[in-house]
Amino acid sequence: MPKTTKKSPDLDRFSKNYLRQWNKRATVRSTEPYTIRESDTRSYTIPETMQPLANEPEVRALGKAAVRTLELQTFHNFLDDIARGEIDGVTAMCGRLANDEFSVSFPDSARQVALTVATDEAYHAFVAREYMKEIETVLGVEPVGVPPKSSAVDCALEWVETKAPDALKHDFWVITLCFAEHLITHELLDFKRDSEPGNAFHHVLSEHLTDEGRHQIFFEEVLRHFWKGLTEKRRKQIGKVLPDFLAAFHFGWFPGIVDWNKAALRGLGFKPKQAERIVKQCYTRLYEESSKKKYDSPTVAHSESLMVRSELLAHAPTRKLLVDAEWVRP
Ligand SMILES: [Fe+2]
Ligand SMILES: [Fe+2]
Repeated sequence: MPKTTKKSPDLDRFSKNYLRQWNKRATVRSTEPYTIRESDTRSYTIPETMQPLANEPEVRALGKAAVRTLELQTFHNFLDDIARGEIDGVTAMCGRLANDEFSVSFPDSARQVALTVATDEAYHAFVAREYMKEIETVLGVEPVGVPPKSSAVDCALEWVETKAPDALKHDFWVITLCFAEHLITHELLDFKRDSEPGNAFHHVLSEHLTDEGRHQIFFEEVLRHFWKGLTEKRRKQIGKVLPDFLAAFHFGWFPGIVDWNKAALRGLGFKPKQAERIVKQCYTRLYEESSKKKYDSPTVAHSESLMVRSELLAHAPTRKLLVDAEWVRP
């Protein structure tokens, strides 16, 4: 594949500094993971936004123990998403960045940082699986037994595989990586802000965020370097299909999580039709409460901030297409 090589002193300088700090700061190097204890059941809560079904009157009527089971299964689900997504999506694409497989070349220092990110993410997957085991053995709640759902990263990669123009597939791998790493950090920060300090969930988020804050800034630099390094023709080609990519990334996972929630309610004893009705009424209400424009969604707003910071929106034709499709504020 023809490569555009542009010198990028900013990314190189940033990456060299990053490598100097990684040995001291990475959790895989320096942190003993939190151990979930039985006493965590006393303080345990997940943020309300993470499991809206816990507030449905018919679910609450089952009693506190059932609501707690649903919340702990949601915690399992969150950890399962990390355990799978970090490996299938992020680690694999970091390997491609390290091997310089994209149409814009990256400095050696940035390729080495990509390997440290892959190491961090594989460790996050390892720790997530350890926590799942502890929730099962210490707190006595098993995960909901359904086939794995598709995460935002899975949906974006599936779009790349099946819908992106062949010539742009490699470019969309690095774009997926940057958008995923940006959004994951914001979601973890949002959940941490909304969770009770000191509980197991809060500890898990704090540990993960020790690394993700660093990753987020790195991938802003990566996207800026990549976008600047593209030819104008290639930028226009990518901009044209960026709205479709964002649709897969931001909304493609929705049917999977609806199915997961139905299975969770069936596990609590609801009949399949009841489970379907409760999930439908909950999500319909949430959908109606949310605003109509895509850019008003908090997760879409996080991607918009990445596109501003990486200067992707400084490209007028791309910005116009995204504004017209309501991904970006006019
Ligand atoms: Fe991670
Ligand atoms: Fe990360």
